[in-house]
Amino acid sequence: IHLVGLDIPKRVYIVACGTSYHAGLVSKRLLEQIAHIPTEVHIASEFLYDQPLIGDKPLFIFISQSGETADSRGVLDKIKKQGYPTLAVTNVQGSTLYREADFKLLTHAGPEIAVASTKAYTAQIAVMALLAIHLANVQGLQSPVDMFRELRTISTAMEALIEKKALARQIAHEYLTGKHSCFFIGRLQDYAVCLEGALKLKEISYIQAEGYAGGELKHGPIALIEEGTPVFVLITDSRIAKNIRSNAEEVRSRGANTCIIAVEGLDHQGDAWVLPRVHPLLTPLVSVIPFQLIAYYA
Ligand code: F6R
Repeated sequence: IHLVGLDIPKRVYIVACGTSYHAGLVSKRLLEQIAHIPTEVHIASEFLYDQPLIGDKPLFIFISQSGETADSRGVLDKIKKQGYPTLAVTNVQGSTLYREADFKLLTHAGPEIAVASTKAYTAQIAVMALLAIHLANVQGLQSPVDMFRELRTISTAMEALIEKKALARQIAHEYLTGKHSCFFIGRLQDYAVCLEGALKLKEISYIQAEGYAGGELKHGPIALIEEGTPVFVLITDSRIAKNIRSNAEEVRSRGANTCIIAVEGLDHQGDAWVLPRVHPLLTPLVSVIPFQLIAYYA
């Protein structure tokens, strides 16, 4: 950890691409709810040409597995020239982002085995959770979560989920055989995880997959739901469990084949996969795993 001398920022700008950007979306909630720091998440290739107004005392956090992604490096260059502090969250010690950022955190996910990022994503979220705790501690804030205990519990839950290969294979077979397009829907954090689920599926199976916020479906894309369209529905937050179930009902009434993945306590009979309940802020660490495995088997 190289955070010595890092001042508490008034606003965080997370910059990343692809799966790392999706980890950034989850991290925004961690930084805002644990460290109380307003956070924006930006796609690096957009930020390069369309820099937003930068507030007082910003911190730029670059999340990148490789530490070499050209778009993220381009933004780092630009931001350094403007004199703002930068932090790289990367898996590769000695990579360009690691070397050039002022502060660095390593994700320790181990070497990349395949192009589809899986363990890198969960490691990025875990490290961002630790950063959020650090920034809360420095400000004397009480954390809403006993982070180290929770992360230990979660790692056991993740190991157990990774063993559910037969279930993932069966779901991939049942819902995706012969299909050319599908949806992943969720709300709040589940929406962020759905974006990642859809990216993973399209990247490795070539099935078109769209991640959508459950409440947005009715504003257009529901037109694409036809008889047998697979729709993966993620439900992990009690605040919106009812709403997302009614979104699932809307698509089912149009013929969609819904595959519901719900956290225990919010599950109903007939759901395809019941996830262990962990702290709501950290649920993406477990809820992404079924999507990763289903994409793999698809
Ligand atoms: C998806 C994937 C890509 C990367 C993206 C950023 O599975 O691997 O979307 O996440 O190209 O790469 P890094 O994190 O190395 O900057």
